[in-house]
Amino acid sequence: MLRIGFLTSGGDCQALNAAMRGVFKCVVNNAKEPVEFYGFEDGYKGLIYSKFHMLTGQDFKGILTRGGTILGTSRVPFKTIREPDENGLDKVKAMKQTYYKLQLDCLVMGGGNGSTKTANLLSEEGLNVITLPKTIDNDLWGTDMTFGFQSAVDIATKCIDDIHTTASSHGRVFIVEIMGHKVGWLPLNAGIAGGADIILIPEIPYDIKKVVEAIEERDKHGSRFTIIVVAEGAISKEDAKLSKKEYKKKLANYKYPSVSYEIADAITKETGREVRVTVPGHTQRGGAPDPYDRVFATRIGAEAGKMILKGEFGYMVAYKNREIVKTPLSEVAGKLKTVDPKASIIKEAKMIGISFGD
Ligand code: F6P
Repeated sequence: MLRIGFLTSGGDCQALNAAMRGVFKCVVNNAKEPVEFYGFEDGYKGLIYSKFHMLTGQDFKGILTRGGTILGTSRVPFKTIREPDENGLDKVKAMKQTYYKLQLDCLVMGGGNGSTKTANLLSEEGLNVITLPKTIDNDLWGTDMTFGFQSAVDIATKCIDDIHTTASSHGRVFIVEIMGHKVGWLPLNAGIAGGADIILIPEIPYDIKKVVEAIEERDKHGSRFTIIVVAEGAISKEDAKLSKKEYKKKLANYKYPSVSYEIADAITKETGREVRVTVPGHTQRGGAPDPYDRVFATRIGAEAGKMILKGEFGYMVAYKNREIVKTPLSEVAGKLKTVDPKASIIKEAKMIGISFGD
């Protein structure tokens, strides 16, 4: 008997279900022995507090196209994982107990950065763990791509497309704030795909004067409107120079809902132009996975299934140079994949006239 546990952790995204379905189908079609599947509810909490249910073929039916996660998810920050809970429970010990109580042969975890750190810790503690690279942010080290990312690019791009018509009618400056946490993959790709004029990402701190110059340059050439894509983690050159402590202090007294509103305010002060801010927010993580993510997550799931059957554990299934590969969890944990400001995609974007405010 083979026993496999599933959990999904951190912010949800499209294609989590597609990936788990891929694992399930691969294992069921190729295992030489009976298999039991367990689903832990709401991320690591399910493993800590032994909240799970058995999964049957029925659970995996019709979920290729279903967004979110059939298991539920939650954020259990890695920095708190070694701390006892409010009742003094040792979380790591509890997770190991659940795993051994169910006699699991493997735990499959779909998650992003923090969740992968916890998976690595469990692997170091002796559990058989395989992770599936999930996040709309695409910031996981050790893989060129995460699932959820392309679907989020589609949604963010559609938002920028839609803003174009109203921005041009009114001759307004529009800011579209795009998710991505502390990295710029999503705003960069959606910004280029949506034909943004200015893209501000965390990896390239902006100078508000340069942003204003880019708007004025467009005005000079008769453009009635400007679309600025601002990463939720965008940062000005001055703020980038602050120490962590100083930056935290600034945020403590921050009067804006997010950086986009601060930028909008500064542009209005400098130019007198009407600026509107649009925040698609969590819609970027919502809805069905796009066809790319369905294929990608299915391939990731199938590879994870293959690894389970071969007894290869302690890896994240990854995508490198257009191949599905495996990357040791120890190499992935704790590292962030950021956009290189010198990358060719940035150079190409600049060559077609996109400003990065630098
Ligand atoms: O990591 C995915 C992500 O959507 C980020 O882009 C964003 O910063 C964050 O999660 C939002 O988190 P929450 O859903 O907890 O508000």
